[in-house]
Amino acid sequence: MKRIFEVYRYDPDLDAAPRMQRYEVELEGNERMLLDALMKLKAQDETLSFRRSCREGICGSDAMNINGKNGLACLTNMNDLPGTIVLKPLPGLPVIRDLIVDMTQFFKQYHSIKPYLINDEPAPEKERLQSPEDREKLDGSYECIMCGCCTSQCPSSWWNPDKFVGPAGLIQSYRFISDSRDRATTERLDDLNNDPYRLFRCRTIMNCTEVCPRGLSPSRAIEGIRLRMLKLEGHDDGLALHRVPTIR
Ligand code: FES
Repeated sequence: MKRIFEVYRYDPDLDAAPRMQRYEVELEGNERMLLDALMKLKAQDETLSFRRSCREGICGSDAMNINGKNGLACLTNMNDLPGTIVLKPLPGLPVIRDLIVDMTQFFKQYHSIKPYLINDEPAPEKERLQSPEDREKLDGSYECIMCGCCTSQCPSSWWNPDKFVGPAGLIQSYRFISDSRDRATTERLDDLNNDPYRLFRCRTIMNCTEVCPRGLSPSRAIEGIRLRMLKLEGHDDGLALHRVPTIR
């Protein structure tokens, strides 16, 4: 089956400005996913550049803008796409070349939320255990693969990339705030509360939840963080907190 592609092309060493390049490719029956088609395009034109690795939605490296909506090429079925497929790099991030973007700022925000367990209590002989109920509270946040689809589709991140943590960083923050083994909850909440940009630039636009290829909801995680802040300040949030563990 023949498919038509319009692909964003830009090589800063050669091009004065970006351009869209048209490709036609004949796909076989077993080439079902967008990444299969991209690999075939790459065989036609080896100058076309994009990232990919695992081919199964785990590494997050082949995130791109597909007909206006961010997603992973390896998880996008060609049957779900229209006749002409328009591919662009993730919006809001500097382009290195073609569909490859610079994720430096994105990961800087991720590292700013201290994405690791903080617990200075003496380590037990084997491991720090959790009850099944406490473990369940991590569901809906630990599965994030840091592909950048959510943050790159978020207008608040476009305008404040160096100030707003962004949905990907905030869902990771919620993952550690929710962890019964972590001892830095107050410090984590203070860090997000004391700066008007880090968390509160979220305007609940919900693009993040709309595009997450893992079906997660950073919006609900951000709501969860706000509710934890209320709890810290002594407000009665029992009813609202009851909803928080299910953040998909
Ligand atoms: S290639 Fe790893 S997520 Fe798509």
